[in-house]
Amino acid sequence: MDKVEKSASSFVDISKLNLTDFRNHSFTSVETDKKFVAFVGRNGSGKTNVIEAISMFSSGKGLRGAQLSEQSNIKGNGGWSIFMEVKTAKGITKLGTGIGSSQMMEGKARQCRVDGKFLKSSREFTNYVGIIWLTPQMDRLFIGQRTDRRKFFDKLVCLIEPSHEKNIKDYDRLIMQRNRVLVDMDDKKSWLDKIEKQISKIAANILISREIATNRLNKIMDAEVKNNLFPSAKIVMREELGDINTRSSMIEIEAQLQKLFFQSRVKDRDTFRTNVGPHRTDFTLYYNKNDMYAENCSTGEQKNLLVSVILAEARVYQEINNGISPILLLDEITAHMDNERVSNLFEQIGDIGSQTWLTGTSEHLFDCISDKTDIFNINDGKLDHNAV
Ligand SMILES: Nc1ncnc2c1ncn2[C@@H]1O[C@H](COP(=O)(O)OP(=O)(O)OP(=O)(O)O)[C@@H](O)[C@H]1O
Ligand SMILES: [Mg+2]
Repeated sequence: MDKVEKSASSFVDISKLNLTDFRNHSFTSVETDKKFVAFVGRNGSGKTNVIEAISMFSSGKGLRGAQLSEQSNIKGNGGWSIFMEVKTAKGITKLGTGIGSSQMMEGKARQCRVDGKFLKSSREFTNYVGIIWLTPQMDRLFIGQRTDRRKFFDKLVCLIEPSHEKNIKDYDRLIMQRNRVLVDMDDKKSWLDKIEKQISKIAANILISREIATNRLNKIMDAEVKNNLFPSAKIVMREELGDINTRSSMIEIEAQLQKLFFQSRVKDRDTFRTNVGPHRTDFTLYYNKNDMYAENCSTGEQKNLLVSVILAEARVYQEINNGISPILLLDEITAHMDNERVSNLFEQIGDIGSQTWLTGTSEHLFDCISDKTDIFNINDGKLDHNAV
């Protein structure tokens, strides 16, 4: 089947998921035709592992950012695979990813296939399915490391501006090169000039993509969405870019960046790193009602702010993909959330139309959506289906 053709009535839902030797699942198969799919079980039973498996159908290392070898079942033969079928208005598309034990030993990348054809990389899965996740580890996003916030934010940007991912990769590689060349910069001036020119060009694209994505997300978060209990907020970027005006033309931004990198050379050489540029950007959310930045809000408020961003992201994704909603993976989303907000969250998701994969320690957490939900009990990496 060709790339998913997008039309107003389009949808992309997972109808089948198989895990083979993935984490504590020797073999797990799930079939569903519901919009909500929930995994219920004790701590350590294998719930998050199922949604981590789905997250492997996006570019990168999935929701745990794990190494491939960590994901093979310790009782298996060393390899693992995940297969899923996604249902669209045009039929079924088959997606597969995994790695064999010998490829693992040789340090190879995982293989990715769609309808039997190999993809160049997992990045190409994004042509078939959009995946957004929220995990309990992200609860500390606003008070944790700046790098994690930037990665989280850049991932959102990638769903809106797919070229962003390659730009970030290329940019990071060039910054590393620049740091190396800086050590003997007096001998390598022309090389440094050349690298900084390249860096500035990519950096300008990165800044512009971030700006576009931020504006789109902020517009949605600012709009009155019907009955939405999640806070109205605004993404705020904290750049380390001196006086650069990111609203100027691309050529001007590039020139300003080049000047900035040039001026920072001596300091950067002395500190063994590049102190300015989009790799230093931080971001936060401004909670309108509290008149406060997210890092100063309560734990529950911070979580709700994150949910606001995720919902906005799903809506923007839908806008730019002619009505197709992304798949949502929400790990332990109901923890620390009041009942009214839990049912409102499911209402908002219902409105967006995203198929949503959930985890929780009790099926009662999903009572308010029981009629639309497939609930599976997991015990030690094995599933029982609960008819509801
Ligand atoms: N490569 C692996 N092989 C076998 N088991 C693994 C592997 N990696 C992780 N596990 C185990 O998988 C189990 C389930 O992990 P998972 O995070 O999915 O649990 P969970 O059901 O989400 O639990 P919680 O409710 O605590 O979040 C853990 O006991 C973990 O030790
Ligand atoms: Mg878990």
